[in-house]
Amino acid sequence: MTSERKLPAATGRGMFVGRSRELALLEAAAAAARRGQPQVVSIEGEAGIGKSSLLERFAQELESAGIVRASGDEAESLLPYAVISQLVASAREMGDGPPGC
Ligand SMILES: Nc1ncnc2c1ncn2[C@@H]1O[C@H](COP(=O)(O)OP(=O)(O)OP(=O)(O)O)[C@@H](O)[C@H]1O
Ligand SMILES: [Mg+2]
Repeated sequence: MTSERKLPAATGRGMFVGRSRELALLEAAAAAARRGQPQVVSIEGEAGIGKSSLLERFAQELESAGIVRASGDEAESLLPYAVISQLVASAREMGDGPPGC
């Protein structure tokens, strides 16, 4: 005899679970930005709590949006224009970099 067992909400690598409230906040910020109101959202949390995963999930569901990425490390804080050069390089990968770059 076989029995059906409900699978756990998250199994294996790559499944994303929960965070509906945080995703709704990010989606609301994106909607406001599309209406012409620029937004800045800060995501804070302990190491490993799921900040990057939340952003990846949000980015997957964004439609017709250009995404540029940069990361910051305290050890790099003395590098001049470090974050800006990451942003420019990321924009160039999308084929949408500043003219002349
Ligand atoms: N909502 C989620 N559903 C399923 N797995 C998740 C979720 N959030 C995080 N994880 C898993 O937890 C682990 C840590 O997540 P993540 O790397 O996003 O954390 P983080 O907050 O960005 O960490 P750090 O502070 O080190 O940058 C990863 O293996 C990721 O797959
Ligand atoms: Mg992270």
